[in-house]
Amino acid sequence: MSESATQVNRQFLLAGRPHGMVKETDFEYREVPVPEIGPGEALVKARFISLDPSMRGQMENRADYTAPLQIGDVMRARGVGEIVASNNSELPVGALAWGIFGMQDYAVTNGRGPQFRLLAEGEDPVLTLGVLGNTGLTAYFGLLAIGQPKAGDVVVVSGAAGATGSVAGQIAKIKDCTVFGMAGTDEKCAWLKTLGFDGAINYRTQDVAAELDRLCPKGIDVYFDNVGGEILDICLARIATNARVVLCGGISRYNATEPVPGPKNYFNLVFRRARMEGFIQSDFADRYDEAIAEMRRWVDAGLLQGKATVIEGFRQLPEALIQLFEGKNTGKMMVKTDD
Ligand SMILES: NC(=O)c1ccc[n+]([C@@H]2O[C@H](COP(=O)([O-])OP(=O)(O)OC[C@H]3O[C@@H](n4cnc5c(N)ncnc54)[C@H](OP(=O)(O)O)[C@@H]3O)[C@@H](O)[C@H]2O)c1
Repeated sequence: MSESATQVNRQFLLAGRPHGMVKETDFEYREVPVPEIGPGEALVKARFISLDPSMRGQMENRADYTAPLQIGDVMRARGVGEIVASNNSELPVGALAWGIFGMQDYAVTNGRGPQFRLLAEGEDPVLTLGVLGNTGLTAYFGLLAIGQPKAGDVVVVSGAAGATGSVAGQIAKIKDCTVFGMAGTDEKCAWLKTLGFDGAINYRTQDVAAELDRLCPKGIDVYFDNVGGEILDICLARIATNARVVLCGGISRYNATEPVPGPKNYFNLVFRRARMEGFIQSDFADRYDEAIAEMRRWVDAGLLQGKATVIEGFRQLPEALIQLFEGKNTGKMMVKTDD
């Protein structure tokens, strides 16, 4: 009997636009029939589903770099799944695939586009969603293409124990920089040091400005910003001449209910002849293969590690997204759906 005849497709839909912090009631759970596949298509069964801060923006009715979700849409999400039925010889049954499959058990794919790839033989799906996935690619292009670190540079990373920040910091070490990270717990800071970071600041308990003054007396050459807000301002006040400020994300503002003020210290960019530049990783889609190959070599050489917080159970997806914003994850936040 076919997969579709025996199973239901569990889904989480957008139930309402969040106000402030994401809540369980912003999601609707439903069960629908497993979709049928057409010519050239394959059916993917989710194994791991990624939770990403950008989901918060998509839940709002906000013009952005991706289309907002409409109420009742299946929540958009990246994942790794197994091909369980196929009408396409290039998408064989049993293969694992990475793509945007949504918060659901089953998705139909034609395997086209840069946001889809088959995993290599033996590739660990947890690594695929983190270091070799969206967040690893974000770190790679944000640091190397926008931050342009040189050996000896002082690099500071916020959100450093997260999926993107931990990879950005490790790549900066590979490029022979001195690297300091900021994270929200002492355990996360201790983990950063095991990754080779030269120092770490617990931004919740320590005086960030004083610590940066102590650690970076000659200023910051590259600031990789995942959080925005006050920490961005503190770093802007400490940039070195010709510094690069990489605007990757601003998670401190994503659940804000009031307009967020801009950085007060932006004029230091003028004094320091510095550059502050935002980017979206998908702009580099034509270079994904090159980046994944290089990061895979670093992983194999023991230079780059991925860590993940894996929550078990499909029904935990909304709670996992909430926990991401609460900083409960170290490395990549994902849900394992095989329950
Ligand atoms: N530009 C792009 O193309 C692109 C692509 C992907 C991601 N991003 C951005 O990159 C950043 C990291 O994303 P990720 O997927 O790797 O998530 P992540 O860093 O793995 O998880 C989010 C982390 O942010 C920290 N955090 C939460 N609220 C915070 C706050 N108010 N202030 C400071 N830190 C806070 C938490 O760690 P603590 O315990 O340290 O607080 C949490 O673990 C996000 O801003 C995201 O939007 C950008």
